[in-house]
Amino acid sequence: MKVMVTGGAGFIGSHFAKRLATAGDTVVVLDKLTYAGNPRNLEGFDIPLVVGDIADPEAVARAAAGCDAIVNFAAESHVDRSILAAGDFITTDVFGTHILLEHARKHDLRYVQVSTDEVYGDLEPGNSAVESDPIVPSSPYSASKAGGDLQVLAYVRTHGVNASISRGANTYGPFQYPEKLVSLFTTNALDGQPLPVYGDGKQRREWIHAEDHCAGIDLVLRQGEPGGIYNVGGEERENIDVIERILALTGASSDLLKHVTDRPGHDRRYSIDSAKLRSLGWERKWDFTEGLKQTVEWYAERRDWWEPIKSGEYLAFYREQYAERLGQ
Ligand code: NAD
Ligand code: TYD
Repeated sequence: MKVMVTGGAGFIGSHFAKRLATAGDTVVVLDKLTYAGNPRNLEGFDIPLVVGDIADPEAVARAAAGCDAIVNFAAESHVDRSILAAGDFITTDVFGTHILLEHARKHDLRYVQVSTDEVYGDLEPGNSAVESDPIVPSSPYSASKAGGDLQVLAYVRTHGVNASISRGANTYGPFQYPEKLVSLFTTNALDGQPLPVYGDGKQRREWIHAEDHCAGIDLVLRQGEPGGIYNVGGEERENIDVIERILALTGASSDLLKHVTDRPGHDRRYSIDSAKLRSLGWERKWDFTEGLKQTVEWYAERRDWWEPIKSGEYLAFYREQYAERLGQ
């Protein structure tokens, strides 16, 4: 199969592109190389990278020539950035998805939309979202992802596009841009910098290793039904538990932990039921303890990867997001 992986120079997309290439599929990556895109994520693999925007039909047509399928990872993906400014989220996650769906429709391509458990919104303790649940996104990010999902479902029903949706949990692993909880706190801990915990830190997320997430998406690509939605879940942990593990694994002092002003609209808990995907044969290979250890060790060894990122645009975002919260 020849697959166009959009957003394939980002965190999860690069794991996916490398997985397919290793398995012998032909892969082409279309990526705009925003702040989060990094060609180095594909180093060591002979994967063609077309630099372009999923919202540009010509770039999409150029990259997708000869492809059988599109797997769309391209997105603005960070909740905090969507709170500071949401315009790019609409352009990429909503309008960009529309352009990709139009291409899939015209050329009769298989299509997978990589979505998130955040579209289900806050879940009460004891509840886990199933795929038929209504979507009630809380942040501009999750609302833009929900907009993408709804278009996919409309294109399946109206135009008969062969498209499925995966909804993955919070993902961690090597090559994650250092702005999300695990990658930011690990690199800060390694540098002796403060770890800014939003509010009481008792929020809960499901955590999944990027390789397990990609295995789930791969199965959805090959076996997902048109209009099918598939949750790809992880292990549920309280944020503080994750943070304490990072402190222990890096050997950093707990004095670095700083409770700061909470994120507006912050969801307390995400939880998804992955029984549907498991019934297709999917299971996680990484448990959280082992996966987090492997990830922290990777960041400790790969300063050459993340230190250059923590400059320029990154520092401007970091100041805007954290300076006041941290009293800097
Ligand atoms: P990321 O921010 O690391 O990477 C996104 C990639 O998309 C980057 O390479 C970026 O350059 C590219 N991109 C952005 N806008 C583009 C555009 N207009 N055209 C082409 N390329 C563009 O994101 P990630 O964490 O790897 O997430 C990938 C996908 O998985 C996203 O759709 C996200 O919503 C979804 N997801 C992420 C998580 C998570 O915990 N990270 C969990 C569930 C689902
Ligand atoms: P994040 O990695 O941004 O993923 P998401 O918001 O998409 O779930 O955040 C995970 C959790 O960690 C979330 O509850 C917010 C919290 N968090 C902090 O407490 N401090 C931070 O600096 C960041 C980035 C996240």
